[in-house]
Amino acid sequence: MRSIKIGVLGLGNVGAGVLRILREHSQTLEQRVSARIEVKRVLVRDLSRAREIETPEGLLTTDPSEVLEDPEIAVVVELIGGTTTAKQFVERALAAGKHVVTANKALLAEHGDALFQRAQECGRELLFEGAVAGGIPVLRAIRHGLASDRVQRLCGIVNGTSNYVLDKMTREGLAYAEAVAQAQAAGYAEADPSLDVGGVDAAHKLALLASLSFGKRVTLDSIFVEGIESIRAYDLAVAKDLGYVVRSLAIASRGADDRLQLRVHPVLLPHDHVLAGVHGAYNAVLVESEALGRSMYYGQGAGMMPTGVAVTSDIMDVARTILANTAGQASTAEDTAPPQVTRMASVVGASPDTLQHANYLCVHVAHVSGVLGRVATVLGAHGVSIAKMRQDHPEGASHARMVIVTEVVSEAAMAAAITELERGDDCVEATVRIRFMEPEG
Ligand SMILES: NC(=O)c1ccc[n+]([C@@H]2O[C@H](COP(=O)([O-])OP(=O)(O)OC[C@H]3O[C@@H](n4cnc5c(N)ncnc54)[C@H](OP(=O)(O)O)[C@@H]3O)[C@@H](O)[C@H]2O)c1
Repeated sequence: MRSIKIGVLGLGNVGAGVLRILREHSQTLEQRVSARIEVKRVLVRDLSRAREIETPEGLLTTDPSEVLEDPEIAVVVELIGGTTTAKQFVERALAAGKHVVTANKALLAEHGDALFQRAQECGRELLFEGAVAGGIPVLRAIRHGLASDRVQRLCGIVNGTSNYVLDKMTREGLAYAEAVAQAQAAGYAEADPSLDVGGVDAAHKLALLASLSFGKRVTLDSIFVEGIESIRAYDLAVAKDLGYVVRSLAIASRGADDRLQLRVHPVLLPHDHVLAGVHGAYNAVLVESEALGRSMYYGQGAGMMPTGVAVTSDIMDVARTILANTAGQASTAEDTAPPQVTRMASVVGASPDTLQHANYLCVHVAHVSGVLGRVATVLGAHGVSIAKMRQDHPEGASHARMVIVTEVVSEAAMAAAITELERGDDCVEATVRIRFMEPEG
């Protein structure tokens, strides 16, 4: 049986998952690909570090050229993370005629244009299923299952850390910092969780999802991003009373003028919304397409084995392409990203100012007479109508919390009203603002 040799860059979480699947599922893989997939070399930084998986003598190396320039290696699997060295390694691998598989969303969100272009010039594949929603084969579903349909909107929970934190705060009443600490202890959050809770990681994934769904090149600067850091357990408890849960969503939708709305921010969802039932570190992507209607892709969005499956399935696809090409047949593998993405026109995201939402506001005000009137007057002056309002006094605090639910209003008006509210001396803390999900058509 033919053997296809691969080189792996990185033997951390995902690298160990890939090696384990290649080892434990080797018979299945051989049957499905009709070739043996053999790991020839694995690049690491530190040879003495303890690993999740045992490796045979001589497999590990600290010399990148032993992977990138080995003529026997046909596929390079980039799993080191980061954007600088990873970009150089991917470029070197392509230049040396290797196909590349990666799970690195940051790399593709920042340098995808150049890398897909390079892959196309070199006639090589660059696959990346593991980069979005870990083990959930959502990119395959969009590229293949929905290839004949027209996606109108997608909306997903694509950052497990943010979802875990919000879910813990909602279900157990934990404070934000405590929930983040638990996410770190459980291995869901990095020591520095800012990319996750700040929404940037979700924006990286949205850029990839939206590019494939809408056939336009989406860059990070066209995505409006707001994190979950300002949300408190109190806000989530009030939301629950009102019949809502808060989730951090990545949303892309096609507007009437065919422009895309791209955003990542916390959203109040009715408690019976299908995404409200996504708990813990799970991910889900809800796609609305013209012919199929709604379809949802749900599962583990990170972790050694789930992400390992996505990466290994990409390796198998590349292996099939190699076999088909060397047999002189047309490629039987997927219509891969490079040609699709390089043909795409860049997208100019619609301004978030054009959005309209109902909003939850929690305004922290001093106990001074007339404060209620001032808040109502400021909102009214900006055209913000109040649908509901309630006030309470946190125990031992010298100020009051005013919860206001607004009617639907433009982003611009809401932002201007909050700025003016916070300019007043009676406003003692930053206002928490969470958008309600817009009604679905
Ligand atoms: N973890 C997940 O659940 C998950 C899910 C989806 C996507 N991803 C993506 O998958 C990629 C890998 O993530 P991970 O969690 O597996 O990372 P990780 O656990 O930090 O592992 C990184 C590996 O790369 C090696 N490495 C880093 N820089 C290197 C360099 N300059 N030269 C040589 N080796 C280097 C490290 O070597 P040493 O071990 O010697 O330090 C380590 O083995 C990232 O792009 C990440 O965003 C991860």
